[in-house]
Amino acid sequence: MHIIVIGCGLAGLTVSIGLAKGGHDVTIVESVDKYIEKYCVEPVDLRMMRWRNGQKLVEVPLKGHARDAYGAPYWHIHRADLHRGLLEAATELGCRVHLDNRVTSIDPSKPSLVTKGGRTFKGDLIVASDGLHSMARSTVLGQPGPPVPTGQMVYRVTLPAKTLQGIPELEDITTVPRNNHWLGPNGTVLSYLLEGISDTLINFVFTCDSDGYMPDGVNQRPGKMEDVRDRFREWDPRILRMLEHEGQVLEWRLFTHEELPNWVHDSGKLCLIGDAAHAMTPYLAQGAAMGIEDSAILAGLLVKYPSVDTLHETLLLYEKARLKRTAKVANASIDSRNFTQMPDGPKQQERDEYLLAHPGIQSGHRNIRSQTEFLDWLFGYDAYEALQDIPPLQTS
Ligand SMILES: Cc1cc2nc3c(=O)[nH]c(=O)nc-3n(C[C@H](O)[C@H](O)[C@H](O)COP(=O)(O)OP(=O)(O)OC[C@H]3O[C@@H](n4cnc5c(N)ncnc54)[C@H](O)[C@@H]3O)c2cc1C
Ligand SMILES: *[C@@H]1O[C@H](CO)[C@@H](O)[C@H](O)[C@H]1NC(C)=O
Ligand SMILES: *[C@@H]1O[C@H](CO)[C@@H](O)[C@H](O)[C@H]1NC(C)=O
Ligand SMILES: *[C@@H]1O[C@H](CO)[C@@H](O)[C@H](O)[C@H]1NC(C)=O
Repeated sequence: MHIIVIGCGLAGLTVSIGLAKGGHDVTIVESVDKYIEKYCVEPVDLRMMRWRNGQKLVEVPLKGHARDAYGAPYWHIHRADLHRGLLEAATELGCRVHLDNRVTSIDPSKPSLVTKGGRTFKGDLIVASDGLHSMARSTVLGQPGPPVPTGQMVYRVTLPAKTLQGIPELEDITTVPRNNHWLGPNGTVLSYLLEGISDTLINFVFTCDSDGYMPDGVNQRPGKMEDVRDRFREWDPRILRMLEHEGQVLEWRLFTHEELPNWVHDSGKLCLIGDAAHAMTPYLAQGAAMGIEDSAILAGLLVKYPSVDTLHETLLLYEKARLKRTAKVANASIDSRNFTQMPDGPKQQERDEYLLAHPGIQSGHRNIRSQTEFLDWLFGYDAYEALQDIPPLQTS
C-alpha cells in the first residue's frame, strides 16, 4: 500500500520504519525541519528522595531488574538523539520525508490531505502521528478534541556534566547513572545523565504548578535559570549548587487527555498513533514508549494483512490491541502525581515511612514504580508476543 504518515516525530518515524521494512511505500509529511542520532545511558536505579534534604526514601533497581526480568535494557536517551537515529533508519529504508508541509486539512474518505503550501498528498491510508496538539484527532472524533492542561509545567535544564566535576557533594549525582527523583510539595525534581553527541549531559526535569508562570496560549518556550532557582530555592542544597551554573532551559506546559472512544476514522482509511491517540503526562516517562509500542503493533498488523480490502478491519484490530493499555498508562501517570507530590504533612509522613519500610521492588507496593505487578505489566509487554496473541482477521 501507499501509506502517508503525518508527523516526523518519534511515533511517526517508528511506524514508518516498520511499514517500509514490510514492503509498504511510505511518505512522511512533516511541518518543520527536525533533529539528529543515538547514545544511551543505563541508569542503575530510581532513587526517590525527600525534597528538602535529599534523604533517601527508596531505591528501585532499574538496570539489573530490566535485564533480568524483561530481557531488555532500561535506557535514558536524549529525545533528539533517538529522533536522529530513527530518521536515519527511515530514510535508509526509502521513506520520503517532505518537510515544511504542515497539514491543514484531511479528507479521510479518499484518503488525502492538503498542506499549507497547497500541495495534495493521496494514498491508501493516512497514519496521523501529529502529536499532542493533533489536528487529525478532531477529524477522527468528528469534533474538537484538544488536550487538557493539568495545571503543571516543567523546566528542563541541561548542562554538560563536566561543568559540575570536582564538587564533592555532587559527585554521586554527576557520575553515577541513575534516576534521581526528589519528591516535594506540588512538585518533583528529576536528574539523570545523558550521553550527548560530544559530551555527557546532566538533565534535570523540574515539575511544578504553572499558574501565574506560563501565559495562556504558550505551551513551550525557552526559560530562564533565575526562575528555576527562585522556584526551587528551598529544595535540597545540592540542587541549588547545580543551578549556580548556566544551563539551557526549556519550559513545557503539561497536558493529558481522557481515553478516546476510537482511534480509527469511520472511513477505515485514517488512524491515530502516539500522542495524537493518547496524550499523557510525563510523570511515568511513558509517552514516547507508548507511541513506539503502537508503531510496532500497527506496522506488524499491516505487514501481516497488507491488502487494502481488509484495511478497515486491520485498523480496528490495532485499536483494540492498544487503546485500553495506553488509557491505563495515562491514568497511572496522573495517579503517580498524587503519590509523589504530596504537600508536607501527615499523609506525606506516612508515605515516607512506608517507602523507608518497603525498599526495592515488592508485590503490592503502594508506589507503582516499586510494584512488581505494575512493572511486569508495563515493562514485561512484548509487542511481538502481543501481535501473536491478536486473533486472526475474520474475512468473509
Ligand atoms: C517534559 C516531557 C518529558 C517527557 N519525558 C518522556 C520520557 O522520559 N519518556 C517517554 O517515553 N516519553 C516522554 N515524554 C513524552 C514524549 O516526548 C512524547 O510522548 C512523544 O514525543 C510523542 O511522540 P509523537 O510522535 O506522538 O509526537 P511528536 O514527537 O510530538 O511528533 C509530532 C510531529 O508531528 C508534527 N506535526 C504536528 N502537526 C502537524 C501538521 N498539522 N502537519 C504536519 N506535521 C505536524 C510535529 O511537528 C512533530 O514533528 C515527555 C514529554 C514531555 C513534555
Ligand atoms: C498544591 O496543590 C493542591 C491540589 O493540587 C492545592 O490545593 C494547593 O493549593 C497547592 N499548594 C500550593 C502551595 O500551591
Ligand atoms: C481512566 O480514568 C478515567 C477517569 O477516572 C476512567 O473513566 C477510565 O475508565 C480509566 N481507564 C482505564 C483504562 O483505566
Ligand atoms: C489526585 O489528586 C486530585 C487533586 O488533588 C484528586 O482530584 C484525585 O481524585 C486524586 N486521584 C487519586 C487517584 O488519588
